[in-house]
Amino acid sequence: MNEPRFGAPGRVKEVTSLSNPLVKDIKALSLKKFRDQQNAFLAEGLKLVIDALELGWTIRTLVFAKTALGNPAVEKVAARTVAAGGTVLEVSEKVLTAITRRDNPQVVVGVFAQQTLALKDVAPRGDDVWVALDRVRDPGNLGTIIRTVDAVGAKGVILIGDCTDAFSIETVRATMGSIFAVPVARATTDAFMAWRKGFGGLVAGTHLKGAVDYRTVDFTGKPVLLLMGNEQQGLPEDLAASCDQLVKIPQAGRADSLNLAVATGVMLFEIRRGALALTSGTNA
Ligand SMILES: C[S@@+](CC[C@H](N)C(=O)[O-])C[C@H]1O[C@@H](n2cnc3c(N)ncnc32)[C@H](O)[C@@H]1O
Repeated sequence: MNEPRFGAPGRVKEVTSLSNPLVKDIKALSLKKFRDQQNAFLAEGLKLVIDALELGWTIRTLVFAKTALGNPAVEKVAARTVAAGGTVLEVSEKVLTAITRRDNPQVVVGVFAQQTLALKDVAPRGDDVWVALDRVRDPGNLGTIIRTVDAVGAKGVILIGDCTDAFSIETVRATMGSIFAVPVARATTDAFMAWRKGFGGLVAGTHLKGAVDYRTVDFTGKPVLLLMGNEQQGLPEDLAASCDQLVKIPQAGRADSLNLAVATGVMLFEIRRGALALTSGTNA
């Protein structure tokens, strides 16, 4: 792998030019190719950056707006970044807008090292719940699902086949910070099928042709793997055949299916119903 870029470690730089090479490198993280090459991604917002550091993620570069100078929380994060060997860039709003491709950008952006889990290390036990997504294409759906997995206390997400990138800025935005709390594993369909053979719990696939109402299934007392299909095509035959049960969410009205993230949410709240009954309130 190439050496990580993003500036010499441990230094604070002031940058106002869009043609600054550090800014160019960070902007290039909007491309998957460059994210993969650098094993890096962007996360926007002070709270997200603080949470990520708390959860042990490696920060490479902290970018903050001049307007945030003097904000004690930003200065604390900047000091932590330098202590961790990262670079701190103080930039103009123009630069932040270019990096995030957004008007009114957040005043803090972090460049983090990507972290994924190897499929062989996904070993569900007890009443663990994992979600496997077949070729999910929409970053908003993936981010929303990662956020929902976090919210219900499920363990993580397995991406099967050619999926949208969990580390794109759109996906990370939609996770609202849960990207740092939810492990993500990636697998080819073949690798998933091989791993699935060693999975001792219940594999529940969701399918519009499912014969079973999801509310009649006993999800308790065992690990559950919830398998969701692609937005356009649903689950292919081989993955559907690998499920212990194919369940359907009954619908009324004219819509022929639910949005993938909505269907995943409905399923997760049912699967985790018992566990969530003991929890009161939200984390807001
Ligand atoms: C938008 S749907 C896919 C629709 C696709 N045209 C099809 O025929 O399967 C995306 C995924 O959400 C889940 N899903 C959506 N609505 C569902 C329902 N009513 N029952 C079960 N699963 C559903 C399934 O996993 C499905 O593969």
